[in-house]
Amino acid sequence: MMTTIDTQVLDQQARDILVANDRGGYTIPTAGLYPYQWNWDSAFCAWGFSTFDLERAWREIEMLLSGQWSNGMVPHILFHQDDPGYFPGPDVWGCDGPIPSSGISQPPVAATFARKLWEKDPDMAAPRLADVVRGLTDWHRWFFRWRVLDGMAFLTHPWEAGRDNAPDWDSAMAAIEPVGVGDYVRRDTGHVDPAMRPTKADYDRYVWLVQRGRRLGWDDAEMARNPVFRVADPTMTFTLLRANRDLLVMARASGAPCDEIEGWIADLEAGAAGLWNPDIASFDSRDLVNGGFSGCLSNASYLCWYAGIDQPQMLDHFRKLRGNCRYPIPSHPLDSPRFEAKRYWRGPTWGIMNTAIGLGLEEMGHGGEAEALRAATCELIAAHGFAEYFDPTDGSAAGGGQFSWTAAIWLAWASPNARRA
Ligand code: DGY
Repeated sequence: MMTTIDTQVLDQQARDILVANDRGGYTIPTAGLYPYQWNWDSAFCAWGFSTFDLERAWREIEMLLSGQWSNGMVPHILFHQDDPGYFPGPDVWGCDGPIPSSGISQPPVAATFARKLWEKDPDMAAPRLADVVRGLTDWHRWFFRWRVLDGMAFLTHPWEAGRDNAPDWDSAMAAIEPVGVGDYVRRDTGHVDPAMRPTKADYDRYVWLVQRGRRLGWDDAEMARNPVFRVADPTMTFTLLRANRDLLVMARASGAPCDEIEGWIADLEAGAAGLWNPDIASFDSRDLVNGGFSGCLSNASYLCWYAGIDQPQMLDHFRKLRGNCRYPIPSHPLDSPRFEAKRYWRGPTWGIMNTAIGLGLEEMGHGGEAEALRAATCELIAAHGFAEYFDPTDGSAAGGGQFSWTAAIWLAWASPNARRA
C-alpha cells in the first residue's frame, strides 16, 4: 500500500528526472542511450513539465517545431549537438533541415499534448497558439501527402512508428535484402543489455533503409516511387486521427481554417476500418506492399479509444488481458511464439502506451477499465522505477533508466496525485 508520502517522493523523483534530462529547452529521453530530442518522447515530456512548469513545457513543443522541414515534416530525431555515443547520428542520415535531423517522422502526438498545455492556461498560450497551430497543421498535411493511403497512416521505416522491432513488421522486414549495408558500430548495445534491444538482422535493415533514403535525397516522391517498406499501422493511424481532433479544437480557438482538418478526420475515421483484421478480431498492422495483415494484437491495437473509436471486441481483449497479465499492456501477446518479455517492442509494457490507451478508455466512457490500467501502471512504476519499459510478467525494469517519458506520464497521469496536478 502506497502512502501519500511515498507518492510525493515519487513525484519529486519524476520531476528530478525531467529536470536532469533537460538540455536547455528540450528533453533527452535518457542520458547515454538517447542523447538527442526525440519527437514523440518530447511531446510526452512537455505534458510532464506542464505539471510544474508550463512555460518550460511550451518551450519543448516550440523546440520540436523549430526542426520542422520546409515540406512540413517534423523529424523523429533532432540532433541539437553532436554525441558520438549514438548510432546512427547526423552524418549517417545526411539531412539538411533547419537543425541536423533524421529523415523520417514519428507518431504525431504533439497536437494532443499541446492542446493539454493550452487548456491549462489559454491566456498564457494565446501569443504562441497561431504559430503552433500553423506548424502542426503543416506537419499533418505532410502526413496526408506522404504517409496516408485509403485513410490508413503508414510508416516507411520501423523507427517511424516508434515501435522499432514490433513483430508487426517481421514479414515486411524479411522481404528486405540489406545488400551492401556495410560495416557499422552499434552504440545502443553498449548502453543496454543486447537481449533487450533489436537484433543485428533488424539493425542491418534499419540502416539499409536510412542509406536508401539518403541516396534518394530524402525526397518523398522518389522514395514513394518504388516503396520497399510501407506498413499501415494502428500507432500512426490512431495517433494521427486523435491529433487532428485536438488540432481542430485549437485551430477553431485561434481562428485558423478548419475545413481541411475536418476532412482529414473524416478520411481517417473511414480508413481505420481497413486496419480491422477479422481473423484475430482486432485492429492490426497491414503491409501495403502485399496487402497482408501482420496478425498482431499489439498494445497499439488498443489505441482505438484514444482515436475516438469504440470497439466492443477490443474491450473484450482488454478485459481478458487483465486476468492473464500481471502488468498489462504487453506490446505483443504473452501466448504468441514471438513474445519476448524483455526485448523492446516484442513483449514489454510501455508506460506511454498505457497512458494513451487509458486516456482513450476514460474519454470513451470506460472509466473502470481506465482506472484499472492507471492503477496497474502506477504500481508498476512505483515498484520498479522510471524505466524505459517493463517485463509484463514480473514488472522488472528493462531498457534505459531514469527515463523522461516514464517520469512525464507518472506526473501527468499515473501518480495518484496526477488528477490534482
Ligand atoms: C533507437 O535508436 O533505438 C530509436 O528507437 C530510434 O528512434
